[in-house]
Amino acid sequence: MNFNLTEEQQLIKQNAREFALENVEPIAAELDKTGRYPAEVIKKMAELDFMGMPYPPEYGGAGADYLSYILVVEEISRSCASTGIIYSAHCSLAAWPIFKWGSEELKQKYLVPLCKGEKLGAFALTEPGAGTDAAAGTCTAKADADSYILNGTKCFITNGGVADVYIVFALTDPAQGVKGLSAFVVDANLPGFEIGKHEDKMGIRGSQTTELVFKNCRIPQTNLIGKEGKGFGIAMQTLDGGRVGVAAQALGIAQAALDEAIKFAKERVQFGKPIATKQAIQWMLAEMETKLQAARLLTYQAAAAKDEGKIFSKEAGMAKMFASEAADWICGKAIQIHGGYGYIKNFKVERLYRDAKICTIYEGTNEVQRMVVSGSLLR
Ligand code: CAA
Repeated sequence: MNFNLTEEQQLIKQNAREFALENVEPIAAELDKTGRYPAEVIKKMAELDFMGMPYPPEYGGAGADYLSYILVVEEISRSCASTGIIYSAHCSLAAWPIFKWGSEELKQKYLVPLCKGEKLGAFALTEPGAGTDAAAGTCTAKADADSYILNGTKCFITNGGVADVYIVFALTDPAQGVKGLSAFVVDANLPGFEIGKHEDKMGIRGSQTTELVFKNCRIPQTNLIGKEGKGFGIAMQTLDGGRVGVAAQALGIAQAALDEAIKFAKERVQFGKPIATKQAIQWMLAEMETKLQAARLLTYQAAAAKDEGKIFSKEAGMAKMFASEAADWICGKAIQIHGGYGYIKNFKVERLYRDAKICTIYEGTNEVQRMVVSGSLLR
């Protein structure tokens, strides 16, 4: 078995690390404080071909594999988890359904500018009454001549208000329930499409999270992705890929927490010696590294399974569940090693701890991941 990254993948990881250190790390604390969207960073990521990393060059992508893209999410998130999820929601959740199920017309019109980073994407499935029970949505898309008319409200939408292109799920045939759910590409500037409430979050504060409100919003019939009634499968398969992105985001956060803990343990002197000489600290560091490496193997395995074209729902679920819980735990231990300093805002671990929590929740709570994993065992 070969667990090594290829030379190209190592180079991509290294480039992403250098980019993040130079461009993302210096502003991460400010983004957390102000909640500002880092437009200038996303522009630079586009210049480096990051925004369409796993898509073919003919659609403006970099033609890399999914694992390479996951390495970029990890390295960006190691510096700033907000920028990591802005990028991951764009690449995994918005671009993918157009690439996989969209018509050639949709690909040319939307996928190309998304991959080139000229436009930013978002994915809108969740509704106030349909979170974990994603099949319970009530947004509708009524066919009318050569259009669909959208009505309803989406919530908790990453990149809401800053995205140009939204993947929106709505019922074309409400009587059919989830089998009447369809997927659409929606332009941000259409009449009848408004951005609702902006959420004031515990972490990932540089990432915008909003409601989307559709009031008789008319979209062209040609903006249907795939076929009517196929929306739930499109959403679930897209989320499989997104969950590997969340796992990678968790890896980045956890690695940053471990880096900070090691640095602090070597510098902090108590009882006349650096606390790194104490076994209590050494054991915590050893367990942090072990959990992180296990999470990394699961995450890279899930990305590799996607690259091989396999059904990878179970691998994605395990990676997202394990990596996010490892990150939550590792960040907690990093704070513990910092003692009182870890609880203070100008120490990075305080932000990392808040940022890590969301990875156990979004793109399917970890309880949903347990349903997915056990479902695949019991089928
Ligand atoms: N790939 C393809 N098809 C899939 C699938 C997958 N991964 N998962 C399910 N399906 C299909 C099933 O095969 C089934 O098809 P048939 O009816 O033809 O047999 C159909 O979908 C229904 O499947 P289930 O019966 O398993 O569905 P369920 O209603 O019991 O729900 C669930 C399962 C796992 C709980 C699912 O609802 C789920 O994942 N919920 C969480 C949703 C989620 O992750 N939401 C976050 C969205 S992120 C967002 O909107 C905001 C943002 O900015 C990112």
